[in-house]
Amino acid sequence: MSEIKTVGIVGSGVIGAGWAARCLARGYNVIATDPAPGAEEIMISKIANAWPALVKIGWAKTPEPPAFAFTTDLEEVGRTADFIQENAPDRLDIKQSIFVTLDRVARPDVILASSSSGLLPSDIQEACNHPERIIIGHPFNPSYLLPLCEVVGGNKTSQEAKERAGEFYKSLSMHVLQVRKEVDGYLSDRLQEAIWREILHMVKDGVATTQELDEAIIYGPGLRWALMGVNMTFTLAGGEAGMRHMLEHFGPALELPWTHLKAPELTEELIDRMVEGTTEQAKGRTIQEWEQLRDNCLIDIMRTLRPHNIASGKTLNDDESAQLSIGTKHWTPGADVPTPLEQYSGSVLPGWVDYNGHMNEAAYLEACGWAADKLFRYVGIDEAYRDAGKSVFTVETHINYIKEVGVGEPFRISVQVLGVDDKRFHFFHQMTHAQTGDLLCTAEQLLVHVDLKASHACPFEPQVKEALDAVAAAHAALETPANVGRQMKTKG
Ligand SMILES: NC(=O)c1ccc[n+]([C@@H]2O[C@H](COP(=O)([O-])OP(=O)(O)OC[C@H]3O[C@@H](n4cnc5c(N)ncnc54)[C@H](O)[C@@H]3O)[C@@H](O)[C@H]2O)c1
Repeated sequence: MSEIKTVGIVGSGVIGAGWAARCLARGYNVIATDPAPGAEEIMISKIANAWPALVKIGWAKTPEPPAFAFTTDLEEVGRTADFIQENAPDRLDIKQSIFVTLDRVARPDVILASSSSGLLPSDIQEACNHPERIIIGHPFNPSYLLPLCEVVGGNKTSQEAKERAGEFYKSLSMHVLQVRKEVDGYLSDRLQEAIWREILHMVKDGVATTQELDEAIIYGPGLRWALMGVNMTFTLAGGEAGMRHMLEHFGPALELPWTHLKAPELTEELIDRMVEGTTEQAKGRTIQEWEQLRDNCLIDIMRTLRPHNIASGKTLNDDESAQLSIGTKHWTPGADVPTPLEQYSGSVLPGWVDYNGHMNEAAYLEACGWAADKLFRYVGIDEAYRDAGKSVFTVETHINYIKEVGVGEPFRISVQVLGVDDKRFHFFHQMTHAQTGDLLCTAEQLLVHVDLKASHACPFEPQVKEALDAVAAAHAALETPANVGRQMKTKG
């Protein structure tokens, strides 16, 4: 199974360009195709529109999107890519013809995924020679930002392909929902469609305007859905007795004609009402302006959920852990300890620079924080350790800002452990420019080990103490850096 380096994007509209932006931000190469005139330029501008959000969320490592390959030859994408995501219009005949071509030219281990919103994968894979690698990978718009990706297999899809596709989507910071049964509309669009049909009925019947129906979601159920969906929300609606009481209480309503699920006819009059209503709601802002506003709000909502480790906040946390554990070494008894320990390197992120174009004060601390996280992992303080109720808290940090550094410039951080006792450890970071070798900053930190439940300091677990002692012993041979214990003063 070859590693995924190049992602093929077939159809570069709203969803395809979004996938491309997400893949580019995560360091994949992209080769795209789309038969529409001017498609490449449109794709470039869509990616540029998505990029600020990708910078803001911290996935994009460069201020501008990297270049990608574009071709009008579908077969070239099939021959070149290691994973292909198709995003052509949602018509079975179009999808089938694309998949037959890709299936003929792509290596048999290359996964062919469709972004379809509801077509059945069994129908799409019908005429292919290697149907076992064909799946649906259904994202949500904006596909460059939202976490959900439903993975759906057809009759002939292998479990292995579904799992491999899931791993790939996880590498894009997505929440992968493996759909058990192939059904029209999958899970999310079936749910969305139910609400959408009710909206069309209510607008047609003059019950409410598009604005009022949006308010009915925005100020109530919509806020709850982002945290716990419908079923857990309704469980809480039942009070202490939970779902059972909720069903008894609202059960009779299931017999009432509350929903009209069969869609109304899309008459010209209904279309006009929908368009007029939403045009008024847009209040003169362009779609692009609404997209930017939406993206900023989505990122803030996801980040707000992080400390609660719930829903999309948990996806961000899990992704961060996965990114940090890539390439992290772990101490093993008897192994030589690198002196100093150098595990974290990177480049100055676009979101880290101030108005002078230089890395800002807080960002130096953030970078040293990531280096500290690598040290924690090295000695065994990781997610499992924290889940078991123990962690380390920083009690003191001294930073010396030595040299400015600009966006995109590469750096590395080495860490030297200066001392360890039963509950504390003391260490020193040196951040250097990876090309010039210039010292950029130093940071000295003291951390205390805590019992998270009891909320007070406690001794390290024996295996962590053993690792820390080994690192401290190895680092004892190093010279103590001049900035250790440095004081700030202007007089005397
Ligand atoms: N828009 C959404 O909210 C959304 C969400 C999830 C999934 N999807 C699915 O993603 C797919 C693409 O939807 P979209 O919203 O990006 O549509 P879109 O109209 O924005 O883009 C479709 C693109 O496909 C191109 N195309 C047409 N024929 C093609 C062919 N034979 N080969 C390659 N490209 C071709 C078009 O030129 C266009 O650029 C659909 O299957 C859709 O159901 C859409």
